[in-house]
Amino acid sequence: MLNLLSFYASRGLRVARASGQYIWDSSGKRYVDAHTGHGVAFLGHNNPVIVRALNEQLSTFMTAPQGYSADVVDEALDMLSRVAPRGTTHVTLLNSGSEAVELAIKLARRATGRKGLVAFTGSFHGRTAGALSLTHNPRYRKPFEPLLSDVRFGRFNDVGSIDEVITEDVAAVFIEPVQGEGGVRPASTHFVRAVANRVSEVGALLVIDEVQTGFGRTGRVWAHEKFGVSADIVLAGKAIGGGFPVSALFVKEEVASSVRPGDHGSTYGGNPLAWAAVSAATKVLLRDSVPLRAGAVGRVLTDSLEESLTGLIGVRDVRGEGLMIGVELRFLPSDVIRCAQERGVLVLRAGATVVRLLPPYIITPEDVGVITDVVSECVKGASARWAG
Ligand SMILES: Cc1ncc(COP(=O)(O)O)c(C=O)c1O
Repeated sequence: MLNLLSFYASRGLRVARASGQYIWDSSGKRYVDAHTGHGVAFLGHNNPVIVRALNEQLSTFMTAPQGYSADVVDEALDMLSRVAPRGTTHVTLLNSGSEAVELAIKLARRATGRKGLVAFTGSFHGRTAGALSLTHNPRYRKPFEPLLSDVRFGRFNDVGSIDEVITEDVAAVFIEPVQGEGGVRPASTHFVRAVANRVSEVGALLVIDEVQTGFGRTGRVWAHEKFGVSADIVLAGKAIGGGFPVSALFVKEEVASSVRPGDHGSTYGGNPLAWAAVSAATKVLLRDSVPLRAGAVGRVLTDSLEESLTGLIGVRDVRGEGLMIGVELRFLPSDVIRCAQERGVLVLRAGATVVRLLPPYIITPEDVGVITDVVSECVKGASARWAG
């Protein structure tokens, strides 16, 4: 038998099935899923609205080139127009967050005729060559250099670093409203507004990467709504397909009008299944007031974690926006993640020392209790061992 080329450490969990907010392993053990495949299953595993839409599309037609029109595309455009980020007029679908970042780089260069790109310390925009160039962590980036040249990193949440990196040769500035992989670190409103002002001053484009934050997770459809800025390009992924692998790129008219035929292409981008999934996911988002519910239950979970963890010697901070929550420790989080899994709660890491929780919006008060008890118990045990 072939061996699997794997880039991920084994979690020691053999998945048998999943439903809603739960996963079962091959021994029948049930887990509350606060990992959701890096946030993908935000609408719950096997959400019936999405499964039905995909089944229908599968038995109608599974593939069609992007040059053909189809009802499934028109219906999805109609649904998406109800949630599209403010000021955007066009959308296209791709297959992953990284691919959306790649296209944003190309569109920004096409629209401005400039080459420079800016991202920030702590950023994560993906692992393909262009996206990796904008990902700050040297551990991910350095072994694969040379990547794109003309990339600069400003200091995240430091207004003082803005003018020196965002200059008149810059095509686009990429920012996450809450840095996910970088450690669940929210951008401050003051900072994002200053970035947006500087971007328009120098005639560059603002690209907001909502691959992790978007589609309701932070308590708003788009996390950047709270800053009162409008982006030239907004990227979505993960939650937007309700579990189906798809990403989306929204642009303003001015960017769309600079695009020429042949500027981009993707065999699987915008396939009928992806449109059906996005359309169904948007229906769920609107029908169930998902952002509102994520905001409310996220506050309850964050408060409950704060209450049981704040003041503990190994805990630096508990923070969150909606259902994007981080417990920052003073030590590596791997023991806590392992311990939580053993006790039936799946969480993941962010940055060097943060336990990240990305549960689906359907978690119940009972799940909140289980997550809090398990994470607290594991953090307390690990803190005690760390403190010696
Ligand atoms: C903010 C952000 N951008 C881009 C990506 C890359 O997405 P993908 O892994 O789907 O390529 C991620 C993935 O975690 C992300 O969090």
